[in-house]
Amino acid sequence: MADLLKAFVCGHPIAHSRSPMIHGHWLRSYGINGSYTAIDVAPADFPAFLAGLGAAGLRGGNVTIPHKEAAFASVQRRDEAAEQIGAVNTVWFEDGVMWGGNTDAYGFAANLDHLSPGWDRGDVAVVLGAGGASRAIIHALKQRGFKDIRIVNRTVERAEELARQFGAGVSAHSQGATNELLGDASLLVNTTALGMHGNEGLPADPEGLPDHAIVTDIVYVPLETPLLAAARARGLKTVDGLGMLLHQAVPGFERWFGRRPEVTAELRDLIVADLDAKK
Ligand code: ATR
Repeated sequence: MADLLKAFVCGHPIAHSRSPMIHGHWLRSYGINGSYTAIDVAPADFPAFLAGLGAAGLRGGNVTIPHKEAAFASVQRRDEAAEQIGAVNTVWFEDGVMWGGNTDAYGFAANLDHLSPGWDRGDVAVVLGAGGASRAIIHALKQRGFKDIRIVNRTVERAEELARQFGAGVSAHSQGATNELLGDASLLVNTTALGMHGNEGLPADPEGLPDHAIVTDIVYVPLETPLLAAARARGLKTVDGLGMLLHQAVPGFERWFGRRPEVTAELRDLIVADLDAKK
């Protein structure tokens, strides 16, 4: 029998991670002799953990909060998305060299490709929030040809910083400007924590969007956030955030286990059942 292929997700804390469930489902579905385990690594221990991957027989894994920037600094090579986003969420070995990539932008775009094909036809997108997730999404939007990306953030300086880094076609705005920014947007993305379970609130009013606009949220607890509910009531197409989580896992699985997995309704149902059980 072939050797057990081992991968991991590390973070601090890590108990809440759904990644073991996602990768475990694919390992079972494809009959791969592999494992994918959650490992809690405190920040002080992270450099030694990463340096010891090969010796521990690990083929690579996912890196999550608070280690994404440390992983960015520690890997030997980085893919283009990681360079642009400034964070690494996936590591693997190629010819003995440790690579770091970022699959969040891919996951965001692949989810919309799957659930709302044609989502990238427009030029204007409004992105709410200016943290790490926002950065990945702006990268995806630029790659998909959006020409006018408007970042709105409570702390406008953070949006300005992002706009400076991404350059032409990306602008920064304060929350007060949101309504006037929506009128000609074809896509509205929420990357803020507003609307998350325990932080109920509406990060923007979808009333002012054109009829053809698509609204998506990266929050997936609850699956239908107040923003998505308001957009649906307004008759707009909506896409929830769970698919981004599922799709961002695809490139890592392929690198460690050698098979490109599929995001199926069965996988989605499995995670939704787990989310429901933990309500
Ligand atoms: P992530 O990596 O998930 O993007 P983050 O870097 O902590 O997380 O960013 C969280 C985002 O949610 C920020 O844009 C934050 O706004 P500030 O930069 O002003 O802090 C936004 N956010 C969080 N709580 C918010 C709230 N109650 N109202 C508006 N924006 C909020």
